[in-house]
Amino acid sequence: PSTGVLDTRDRPLRDLRISVTDRCNFRCVYCMPREVFGRDYAFLERHELLTFEEIERIARAALANGVRKLRLTGGEPLLRRGIEELVSRLAALRTLGGSKPEIALTTNGSALAVKAEALKAAGVDRVTVSIDSLDDQLFRRMNDVEFPVARVLQGIDAAQAAGMPVKLNTVVKRGLNDGEILSLAEHFRGTGHVLRFIEYMDVGATNGWSLDEVVPSAEIVATIAARFPLEQVAPSAPGETAKRWRYADGSGEIGVISSVTNAFCGTCNRARLSTEGRLFTCLFATEGHDLRALLRGGADDDELTATLARIWGVRDDRYSEIRSSLTPELRADRHRIEMSYIGG
Ligand code: GTP
Ligand code: 5AD
Ligand code: SF4
Ligand code: SF4
Repeated sequence: PSTGVLDTRDRPLRDLRISVTDRCNFRCVYCMPREVFGRDYAFLERHELLTFEEIERIARAALANGVRKLRLTGGEPLLRRGIEELVSRLAALRTLGGSKPEIALTTNGSALAVKAEALKAAGVDRVTVSIDSLDDQLFRRMNDVEFPVARVLQGIDAAQAAGMPVKLNTVVKRGLNDGEILSLAEHFRGTGHVLRFIEYMDVGATNGWSLDEVVPSAEIVATIAARFPLEQVAPSAPGETAKRWRYADGSGEIGVISSVTNAFCGTCNRARLSTEGRLFTCLFATEGHDLRALLRGGADDDELTATLARIWGVRDDRYSEIRSSLTPELRADRHRIEMSYIGG
């Protein structure tokens, strides 16, 4: 029982990704396009959100089933008021093995310069900051709210100064920021931060994804290696999303997340909790399990733990592995949840 529950493909549950808000102050073109997420978009109301107590209870049940890492996401998680208090509550929980769960945060970095110290003090172990370009004009065009890249870079520095290891996520979209790959690599070489390039995915139904806009990871690695030789590195943990590469001259590491060209469902150990308390066993799941109804209906901790075990135990998801076998019609028919709702 120290490993927790397994799904139908023998994959353990290790990572719970908790979306704490469906709102974001950015309108990234590949995630929350302004035409869809405009002034009159209906975000969740306050009473619909899980409270910190409710999140804590679900996290405890997940830890009892083998989870070791809790990742806070959004939307933009730093927009959730009192987020530091939630972090302290989660940091006080224990894994099956009795250790502190690892607490990670995925953020757009816009508020990190202000919040890094407090987050670290509350118990955040490390942060992942999204950065799609170093070119200020292009960065502003991609976030679509005129947010300057310099403030994100300050946030990254603040996180490092506060003692949190930093990873960077760059979603590459063909024809938009594929020209930024080398300058990003060059900029973050030697900083100790791990830069990861993500293949643009068909999450949600609003970003108008097409396969031509995906830049395959192999191409990204080849582009960088032509300038800075790279060597492959072994995975640091089973079920890792990124394939790791190091600079041959010792100036650090990059990663590529190839969910389109080289799916990693075989070892996927991640569950996602939406802002309103639905549990999704896949980023591409069409339906979630309503844990909020269970909690608000008076379920106790044992019931909650058993429910999670039951949900994970019947899990069979492997969307990224079957994506290419689906016809465009079948893909379009599938009601997919938005990334901003479920968290990356
Ligand atoms: P580490 O703990 O640092 O390895 O984090 P991570 O890679 O799990 O988390 P992060 O939030 O940085 O994820 C990076 C990106 O990988 C996400 O934003 C998604 O784009 C993608 N990703 C993460 N998990 C999955 C997954 O289970 N399936 C798919 N298809 N993509 C995922
Ligand atoms: N494809 C790949 N990654 C995406 N992200 C958001 N939308 C997509 C998409 N369509 C990334 C963000 C962030 C992380 C949470 O998810 O850039 O780094
Ligand atoms: Fe916001 Fe992140 Fe989505 Fe951009 S990718 S709109 S920063 S949630
Ligand atoms: Fe996991 Fe689903 Fe992503 Fe595959 S597509 S890695 S099963 S979340």
